[in-house]
Amino acid sequence: MTQPPTHPLRHAALTRALHWIVAVMVIAMLPVGVVMLSDGLARPTQDLLFILHKNGGVAILLLVILRLAWRARTPAPPMPAGMSPLQAGAARAAHWALYALLLVMAISGYVRVRAGGFPIEMLDALGLPTFVPRSESLAEIAKAIHANARFALAGLILLHVGAAMMHLVRRDGVFGRIWPPLGKSGQ
Ligand code: HEM
Ligand code: HEM
Repeated sequence: MTQPPTHPLRHAALTRALHWIVAVMVIAMLPVGVVMLSDGLARPTQDLLFILHKNGGVAILLLVILRLAWRARTPAPPMPAGMSPLQAGAARAAHWALYALLLVMAISGYVRVRAGGFPIEMLDALGLPTFVPRSESLAEIAKAIHANARFALAGLILLHVGAAMMHLVRRDGVFGRIWPPLGKSGQ
């Protein structure tokens, strides 16, 4: 009788579903953030993009917190045999840096908006108070963090997708750890 494998080869179903939902949302947020600030946009279009960006950003913040809470009690499957400790360590560091940058982007966006005294429609509709005092200097600091951290996030995403493509081409099983977005973990 064959022994059942002790470790799944894939990330848990919820890890994979959250990975792809957040990935699609973040990849949309970056260009929306840039376009909504561009000159010559019709006012209603700009307002709509701002509403999508602010509320989408808060949704990302909540999903990342959920993701981290879930991830804390759901370890990643072991790296495929044959992967060097250096490569495994680099992947782990890049993943934690991605989580950290998502938090930095979402929190600095929230602070920029709230300290500036602007609405976040979804939270206002729920009657949630703002957690940040009204302060122009705080709003400016958060704005600068938001505007600069986007380069780090975009750069790291490019690296991450590049590494994923390399694994896909090599067929070494790493891409299949996070794919498909839905379905059981499998063995
Ligand atoms: C904005 C976009 C993205 C973000 C923020 C992101 C973030 C992450 C994070 C944090 C992990 C680690 C999961 C964990 O162990 O907790 C991960 C895993 C992974 N991601 Fe992404 N990802 C993004 C887009 C993509 C895209 C577009 C691809 C493929 C084309 C991809 C491929 C992978 C793969 C293959 C893994 C599994 C790596 C492993 O288990 O060692 N990701 N991603
Ligand atoms: C992962 C989440 C987020 C990403 C990737 C993102 C990305 C961006 C980008 C690329 C820009 C353009 C920056 C520039 O050209 O200077 C931007 C601007 C902006 N974002 Fe975000 N953002 C996120 C979350 C949020 C959140 C949660 C809020 C508010 C609740 C927000 C509010 C804003 C505002 C108000 C601006 C305009 C800043 C200004 O006054 O110049 N963002 N964002």
